[in-house]
Amino acid sequence: MAQAFGVDVGGTGIKAAVVDLDSGQLVTERVRVETPKGGKPKPVVETIAGLVADAKWDGPLGVAFPAVIRHGVAHSAANVDKHWIGTDVAQLVEDATKVRPTVLNDADAAGLAEIRHGAGAGVDGVVLVLTLGTGIGSALFVDGTLVPNTELGHLELDGHDAERKAAELAREREGLSWKQWAHRVEHYLKHVDALLWPDLVLLGGGVSKVADKWLPYIDVRPPVKPASLRNEAGIVGAAMATADPVAGR
Ligand code: BGC
Repeated sequence: MAQAFGVDVGGTGIKAAVVDLDSGQLVTERVRVETPKGGKPKPVVETIAGLVADAKWDGPLGVAFPAVIRHGVAHSAANVDKHWIGTDVAQLVEDATKVRPTVLNDADAAGLAEIRHGAGAGVDGVVLVLTLGTGIGSALFVDGTLVPNTELGHLELDGHDAERKAAELAREREGLSWKQWAHRVEHYLKHVDALLWPDLVLLGGGVSKVADKWLPYIDVRPPVKPASLRNEAGIVGAAMATADPVAGR
């Protein structure tokens, strides 16, 4: 039974568990610790190492991080501390844990979990997974194969960075009703559709739990469904990335 330790690094919490790669199920209880204040590389990596040590894990290790990640190195920092840009995350984690990790973008991780074990399981063609949270993350799949590091949350929409207007945080910040926010998301999805023409769009993030409140207001060409793995998608996908040929490249 192939297993890997998945770590999902977010702005407020770092979550981890051992995952069974065949079923996508958590093998151990999900652990969550606070992200160190400021979210700078060294304390975050120390926290990751603490989780690995507590689990007494020395097998495959996957880490999902909210930035562009190519060959272990972070190349962007839209919603995280700017010190991450240029940081070799994989090297820092390896130094601290003695395990060489696979590091990948957080939305790519969530997407991997959804396409294999969630709402996208068995779906061929072009599938786009979007996570709506503090920002908008994207994961693009063609017949189940990931196209890593798409950053569709940063498309320009009416002169703005799209995630600034259509992420879940925009709804909170601007006090929008579910209907008002759904219209923002619809506008964004129409823009994305005109560029990519996906066969299916999956919407993830915390809001997927309450999809009945807003999804009915969204009317776009491609089928749109809520993601189904919720909280665990990042952990499961981080673990799955250890066996994926393109994740984090
Ligand atoms: C970042 C992406 C990330 C997304 C979700 C965006 O601001 O640019 O890399 O996947 O937020 O966390």
